[in-house]
Amino acid sequence: MVDTPNLKGPMDAIVDRVMQGETPLQVLAKQAEIPKSQMRSIDRFPYYTAFPFAWYRACFADEVPAGTIKSVRYLNRDLIVWRGEDGAAHVMDAHCPHLGAHIGVGGRVEGCDVVCPFHWWHFDGDGNNTLIPYDGGTNRAAKIRSYPTVDVNGFILFWYHPTGAAPLWQVPRIEPYYDDSWTDYYPAKWNVQCPWQEMAENGPDYIHLRTVHGSVDIPELESLEYDGYFTRLRSKVNFKTPRGPQAGRIDSDGWGPGFSLARFSGIIDACFVSAQTPIDFETTEVSFNYMVKKLGDTPEALEKTLRVGEALVADLKRQEAEDIVIFDNKIYQPMPRLSAADGPIIEFREWARQFYLEGDPLAVNR
Ligand code: FES
Ligand SMILES: [Fe+2]
Repeated sequence: MVDTPNLKGPMDAIVDRVMQGETPLQVLAKQAEIPKSQMRSIDRFPYYTAFPFAWYRACFADEVPAGTIKSVRYLNRDLIVWRGEDGAAHVMDAHCPHLGAHIGVGGRVEGCDVVCPFHWWHFDGDGNNTLIPYDGGTNRAAKIRSYPTVDVNGFILFWYHPTGAAPLWQVPRIEPYYDDSWTDYYPAKWNVQCPWQEMAENGPDYIHLRTVHGSVDIPELESLEYDGYFTRLRSKVNFKTPRGPQAGRIDSDGWGPGFSLARFSGIIDACFVSAQTPIDFETTEVSFNYMVKKLGDTPEALEKTLRVGEALVADLKRQEAEDIVIFDNKIYQPMPRLSAADGPIIEFREWARQFYLEGDPLAVNR
């Protein structure tokens, strides 16, 4: 009798360990309090000296009905998101160029203008002063920085560029959002103590799917392109199901930093829209939103769809909790010592580098 040769490769050893139980990070992720790094972001991520230019999510579209103002803080600055009576959404710096009041605190919308609470100066959606009510005139130098704003896919997104340059690409319509045969978003949100780039590096780092998340079936990469401002990943995956593995796909597209879409097909059709907005150099807000194609119109089918959506979000929350243990404490290794079996980390970094320009004194990490 001949001994059966051991055909297992090193990756199978990881799978065996994963099959035996939780990964250490899964155990840590369940603990309520995980220490965060005490190092400053500039020391952990030396490349992160300016915010990357991109379309960023400010809020959900329905958080700002016509005639209202919402105050937010992103990109190290106070911003207002407001909608004129005509329904047009705007994102602008929050402070008035007259004597500095915060327009989101006590200000109001009148017609297509926003009005400062302090001396009632009016500003239009481009930030121009349109009326000083107590002298009847305007002050052309009193201009508020406004950001190109779009209301698309259920989000208000604004374009940030350190020099104020016009948008270099557009965020496309995500058709399932407008299609009644899909559910609404199942939303989830986190604050993470690292920049967008560190989180996005998880994309090409498919090894971590096993070692961090315990995924036995990792996607088989068909292609991964870094093309101009965009990324495109095409992959096949065998989804684990109670009836055995089932073939499916995960295809994802990214439009610069800050906005991406992944489509899952196979067992179920799902769309996963993610948006990352820097709050400041220490913290990034992550917004994850799933949509699921309805399994039919009957109450039973809708109930089943709901359960699938909830299961997807629960799995996503578990994965994010595991990733955050790494994100909140990692540093950037400028010269990473890689294995030949690692994903295309360096290609990703070369692509990411193009988005950092200095030029906005309020948004430079010093
Ligand atoms: S500070 Fe805004 S009108 Fe005076
Ligand atoms: Fe991950």
